[in-house]
Amino acid sequence: MSQVSLKTINQDGRQTTVLAHACNTTCLSCFLVLISSQNTNGRRVWPVPYRRFDRRPPSDAYCQALYPFCPTGDPDGRIPNMKDSDVISVFRLQTPVWEFKYGDLLGKFHIMHDAIGFASSDTGRNYTMEWYELFQLGNCTFPHVREDILPPFWCNQGAACFFEGIDDVHWKQNGTLEKVGEISGEQFNNLARWVKEDNETGIYYETWTVRSDPGPNSTTWFDSYDCSQFVHRTYRKLAKLGAKLSSKTQTNYTKIYLYSGEPTYLGDDGSIFDNPPLKTLAKDIRKFYHSFQPHQSMFQFILSLIEAYEKVVLEKTFYFFYNFEYWHLPMKSPYIQITYEEVPLP
Ligand SMILES: *[C@@H]1O[C@H](CO)[C@@H](O)[C@H](O)[C@H]1NC(C)=O
Ligand SMILES: *[C@@H]1O[C@H](CO)[C@@H](O)[C@H](O)[C@H]1NC(C)=O
Ligand SMILES: *[C@@H]1O[C@H](CO)[C@@H](O)[C@H](O)[C@H]1NC(C)=O
Ligand SMILES: *[C@@H]1O[C@H](CO)[C@@H](O)[C@H](O)[C@H]1NC(C)=O
Ligand SMILES: *[C@@H]1O[C@H](CO)[C@@H](O)[C@H](O)[C@H]1NC(C)=O
Ligand SMILES: *[C@@H]1O[C@H](CO)[C@@H](O)[C@H](O)[C@H]1NC(C)=O
Repeated sequence: MSQVSLKTINQDGRQTTVLAHACNTTCLSCFLVLISSQNTNGRRVWPVPYRRFDRRPPSDAYCQALYPFCPTGDPDGRIPNMKDSDVISVFRLQTPVWEFKYGDLLGKFHIMHDAIGFASSDTGRNYTMEWYELFQLGNCTFPHVREDILPPFWCNQGAACFFEGIDDVHWKQNGTLEKVGEISGEQFNNLARWVKEDNETGIYYETWTVRSDPGPNSTTWFDSYDCSQFVHRTYRKLAKLGAKLSSKTQTNYTKIYLYSGEPTYLGDDGSIFDNPPLKTLAKDIRKFYHSFQPHQSMFQFILSLIEAYEKVVLEKTFYFFYNFEYWHLPMKSPYIQITYEEVPLP
């Protein structure tokens, strides 16, 4: 009925021995047992570190943005130099992308977009800085399952956009526009250098945070990498540069969670989709993602999330993509959650 194959994968110094029971084709999912899965000093590090790249590659021509990325930013991403003695106000910016109530299971979707504003007292000019998907949220959350290519195809780059102007009405009306501090021109110029580097080396968007349970002592298996994480990194960098930041209100952010037992490493496109013994796994991953094709609108994206929820509750399996590699998540209750929770300023 089932065949067994043994394979050793060396990946980032990790030695992984996979025992695969490739079931016959009527089986819903391929069963994988990991005998050992650890880095060379014996223990896996959680959360798995987000991989940094030497430089950002151009995105594949298959990925076509419906809305241009950063239309009013400098084409080369240049950030203007400020006079060292300038006083720059820093603003916390937040606006809802979508609010939606779906039963008690997923609660109220409170999907917010976060950004940071800067205003120079020397020139009177102001600027918005944000980090977001090149091809929208759906494309960063679900890949394209294509006829012509076996591995699911991801259009998941995300990047920083810096442009002149702050659209007060856009942020204020249903969201937040709050001054949270002041920095010098010199601190701003230092921050600008850091943003360029962060933007070159952190190239892909990750929607999900994966952890063991909703409790306070849960283990985080994977961290998201999205607009709010960029805002937190920027605040931390500002604090390191000596800035004092404070808010009069609670600073809450959207988190999209998956809950699972300890994840197991599966491999990357090459080791899974170019490897006949793992044919069943390859098929399962394609099948898994086939149900959630990336969608154009926020509404369709939400519908896909609901489908994902129902599928995951039923099958207790999620093929998770991180650092351009796949992991198996043994999903458990409450499976998927969208929260709007406090992350204090540093
Ligand atoms: C998502 O990617 C597909 C494939 O490139 C593209 O056709 C579509 O326009 C993208 N969606 C958005 C909203 O950019
Ligand atoms: C970040 O990278 C994107 C993609 O290459 C680019 O369009 C953008 O201008 C860069 N942003 C900054 C602030 O360097
Ligand atoms: C940014 O500049 C515009 C144009 O001068 C102004 O209308 C707006 O109030 C400024 N916003 C902030 C937060 O400084
Ligand atoms: C704020 O919310 C109201 C009611 O939901 C909506 O009509 C309006 O377009 C929103 N404004 C902005 C700037 O998003
Ligand atoms: C979490 O861990 C702390 C410190 O180890 C402990 O005092 C606390 O009781 C734990 N809380 C829960 C809910 O397990
Ligand atoms: C903000 O986060 C706190 C703690 O995480 C939570 O108790 C509160 O309800 C949140 N506020 C909103 C408006 O959701």
